[in-house]
Amino acid sequence: MRRPLFHKFSLIFGPRPPWNWLLLCFVSVSALIVLFGSSSSSAFDSVTFSIKSDIYTNYRRLKEQAASDYLELTSLSTGSSSHLKEIRLCGKEREHYVPCYNVSANLLAGFKDGEEFDRHCELTRDQEDCLVRPPRDYKTPLSWPLGGDVIWNANVKITKDQFLSSGSMTKRLMLLEENQISFHSDDGLIFDGVKEYSHQIAEMIGLSSDAEFLQAGVRTVLDIGCGFGSFGAHLLSLKLMAVCMAAYELTGSQVQLSLERGLPAIIGNFISRKLPFPSLSYDMVHCAQCGILWDKKDGMFLIEADRILKPGGYFILHGSSSSTKKGSMASPIEEFAQKICWTFIAQQEETFIWQKTIDALCYSSSKQGVIPPCRGQEDIQSSYQPLAPCIGGTASKRWIPIQNRSSKIQQDEFYDDFESSRLALRNYWSLLTPLIFSDHPKRPGDEDPLPPYNMIRNVMDMNARYGGLNAAFLEAKKSVWVMNVVPTGTHNTLPLILDQGFAGVLHDWCEPFPTYPRTYDMVHANGLLSDFISKGCSMKSLLLEMDRILRPEGWVVLSDKVGPIEKARMIATQIRWEARVIDLENGSDQRLLVCQKPFLRK
Ligand SMILES: *[C@@H]1O[C@H](CO)[C@@H](O)[C@H](O)[C@H]1NC(C)=O
Ligand SMILES: *[C@@H]1O[C@H](CO)[C@@H](O)[C@H](O)[C@H]1NC(C)=O
Ligand SMILES: *[C@@H]1O[C@H](CO)[C@@H](O)[C@H](O)[C@H]1NC(C)=O
Repeated sequence: MRRPLFHKFSLIFGPRPPWNWLLLCFVSVSALIVLFGSSSSSAFDSVTFSIKSDIYTNYRRLKEQAASDYLELTSLSTGSSSHLKEIRLCGKEREHYVPCYNVSANLLAGFKDGEEFDRHCELTRDQEDCLVRPPRDYKTPLSWPLGGDVIWNANVKITKDQFLSSGSMTKRLMLLEENQISFHSDDGLIFDGVKEYSHQIAEMIGLSSDAEFLQAGVRTVLDIGCGFGSFGAHLLSLKLMAVCMAAYELTGSQVQLSLERGLPAIIGNFISRKLPFPSLSYDMVHCAQCGILWDKKDGMFLIEADRILKPGGYFILHGSSSSTKKGSMASPIEEFAQKICWTFIAQQEETFIWQKTIDALCYSSSKQGVIPPCRGQEDIQSSYQPLAPCIGGTASKRWIPIQNRSSKIQQDEFYDDFESSRLALRNYWSLLTPLIFSDHPKRPGDEDPLPPYNMIRNVMDMNARYGGLNAAFLEAKKSVWVMNVVPTGTHNTLPLILDQGFAGVLHDWCEPFPTYPRTYDMVHANGLLSDFISKGCSMKSLLLEMDRILRPEGWVVLSDKVGPIEKARMIATQIRWEARVIDLENGSDQRLLVCQKPFLRK
């Protein structure tokens, strides 16, 4: 088996790091000089050139700094003080552990009527700290794009029965050799039907092919119960952003398999609460045998689907041929669709499509039986708001039909902020990422190495602000996608992120993130620690959670004030991360903490 990367990575970030860390310091400091020196300049290239001489004159000083930094850390980790004791590894039963979804604990606590399957973090607190370890035969995922089609069997939890019964279009997979699962093959070995399906949907909404989705305003898709992500993978290849959302599953998880393939996915439920997305977020909501009983609960789930759909957006339902007679699945929904101003567009076999109105007045008209618009607070600010029997988003200035959307993002009061954060991050990452993205450091201006050196696919920005990191990655043409997280209680910029066609979600970082272990290759947080400390939550829990969601040999990049960064470095040592603090050396108290998670087995 070919896995040479392992060795290359451990050579660089192995036990003898000073030289490599020097390079990292060198690159990072120049990055930060650019980052903080860029506010007065608008052209990236000119900024780079103007700082180049500074980099070289500062080089010797940085080298010394890095060496002393390393010595200091070594003395810390060899441990005189007892509070730096390493955190133990969790037991084998936690290999695929997702906090907050313990059904038996939820039942014991009295949750019922489906709510036992919902997220209840209050019941999983107060557990002893431990590091979730990888399964015994865990292997680093194959790099993108091959990793999108082939995953390692041992990395996910799936039973033989689930494997054998996977037959539906979006769930098709195949065992290759004995340790890999394949979802697709270019030589047509596996016929998955997803392309034909996507084409059919395009035709049903009046397009000549699915290549026209973007022109027709369909850019972001929420794929509920996504199978193993094959439909989403196809949409991504058409440059759409498809996010998979499915319930927590103990085995054969759709979310775990999708993320393992490098496809955007998050655990989420239609039970009693609103989804952690603002109103008017998606151009299309798709459900192929997703298991949601849309006509139940007085149509509340449909109202929620309506809330997150943009005006003129599409709701697509695909049923199985065995369980439904033609039309019978759609008719209860059809009745309700009129109450929420949806128009039935087309049916072909088991596929049904509705379109949300573009007329916000439709809901407020005096028509009988139409669900009224919501009053008061328009958009959700937390992940725990109950479903509400009213229509959201009608008074929003984001009420713009998807067919009319201009290619530019909305310019509003955040525009200046947005531009500067985008520029800063673009510069910052163009300099910092060469180390992370390749097996050898590179100078600004060098070409990026070709795959397979590019080992980063799933990125989480824990404090995404305006999505600047995501934009920077796109601009650098990295084949990554970013889960842009907007912490609850901060300025809610999520609508601005989603309106750029990015993936994003609201989340309270005092709680675990709804994902499986080892699902991200990199987590990044700028300014989160400071905000977090002021909220009074445990930084240790936060870093342990980062460790849980990060795959072995994944990266953590934290940028913050010196106080929180020093504290985080102490904890990083306990979590056994390879950690380095980088000082800006410009008199500011801003620091960078760059860490790599080790590949621990026992
Ligand atoms: C789930 O909750 C039950 C009952 O409280 C407990 O015994 C069990 O250990 C929990 N499981 C996990 C994985 O935490
Ligand atoms: C959308 O575009 C169409 C055609 O370009 C135009 O007639 C219509 O008024 C626009 N609607 C809105 C809400 O801007
Ligand atoms: C150092 O960088 C910070 C970060 O923005 C900046 O505000 C500050 O002006 C810089 N300090 C000096 C002395 O250049």
